[in-house]
Amino acid sequence: MRAVFYESFGGTEVLQVGEVSEPKIGPDTVLVRCRATSVNPVDWKIMKGFLDSRMDAVFPVVPGWDLAGVVEAVGPSVEEFETGDEVFGYARMDYVHHGTFATYSAVPVRTLSRKPKSLSFEEAGVIPLAGLTAYQGLVHHLKVRTDETVLISGGAGGVGVFAIQIALTLGAKVVATCSPSNFDFVRSLGAVPVPYGAGFEEALNEEIDEGVHAFFDLYGGDGLLSGRDHLFDKARVASVADPGIRELGGHYVFVRPSKEDLDELSTLAIQGLLQTKIEHSFELDQTPEAFELSMSGHARGKLAISIA
Ligand SMILES: NC(=O)c1ccc[n+]([C@@H]2O[C@H](COP(=O)([O-])OP(=O)(O)OC[C@H]3O[C@@H](n4cnc5c(N)ncnc54)[C@H](OP(=O)(O)O)[C@@H]3O)[C@@H](O)[C@H]2O)c1
Repeated sequence: MRAVFYESFGGTEVLQVGEVSEPKIGPDTVLVRCRATSVNPVDWKIMKGFLDSRMDAVFPVVPGWDLAGVVEAVGPSVEEFETGDEVFGYARMDYVHHGTFATYSAVPVRTLSRKPKSLSFEEAGVIPLAGLTAYQGLVHHLKVRTDETVLISGGAGGVGVFAIQIALTLGAKVVATCSPSNFDFVRSLGAVPVPYGAGFEEALNEEIDEGVHAFFDLYGGDGLLSGRDHLFDKARVASVADPGIRELGGHYVFVRPSKEDLDELSTLAIQGLLQTKIEHSFELDQTPEAFELSMSGHARGKLAISIA
């Protein structure tokens, strides 16, 4: 089958597009004909070997954890899906080998849900990883409630666009950091934009009267520390980027596959409350270009990959 793959860790120069063997279908597994996937920073972090101490990589590695497609075949114990079903999912396993940047992917049932009919494959394929991260951070970890003020760092990125929209559906007021060039974009999502770095504290003070109730950090590092005086005394804090947050009493979020949470995201998308904000759409053989854009650290919204 046709796939993007690499045979050693490295930069985008290790990416190849060509033929690899089809994955086998395990007992609790569904073979999906992939129609779309998306780029998440973790895809190129794994490619560069940054997660090598935590996850086994079996070369050749086909990257990708996001997926939207059609069920082609099911394993012997699968009752949830049948051939022809349209599905989407966050197909993460505890090792990397057969990812979703491919014509076919063998995916555990527990990672899949039914694709909302009103969404295209591309739209559905950009939701799972970033959408689940946003949902699990805001709902399960921060437990955001109506009328609270939520600060989100990195509001214009892949996770940020979903986090802003989900926090609004929870009834929160949302303030989000981004580059000045993304202020209008973040406003259009319904959040109040503030800059990160220089001017952050002044801008935040202008926008909020009584501090924030919850801080969802999507960047870590300096962004996290610059908010510290303001936030840590009173706010509930969660970070997807900095495990050190636990030492400060916050939650570290590492997104988990969840059919139930995906169904919640489907419902929001069907109601028009969760828009996918695809900034760029690529073909499979344009994956190096898509990874480079993600590696710039300033991609806006989501990057979709369509699989012919
Ligand atoms: N732990 C987990 O389960 C999990 C899950 C998903 C993602 N993540 C991680 O979360 C991060 C964000 O993911 P993503 O998909 O949203 O990435 P992305 O789409 O590449 O977005 C990156 C964002 O970072 C912002 N940014 C750049 N420099 C910044 C700074 N100094 N301070 C604050 N924000 C800054 C950019 O904003 P501007 O363009 O406006 O400058 C951009 O919106 C990545 O590191 C990713 O690996 C972790």
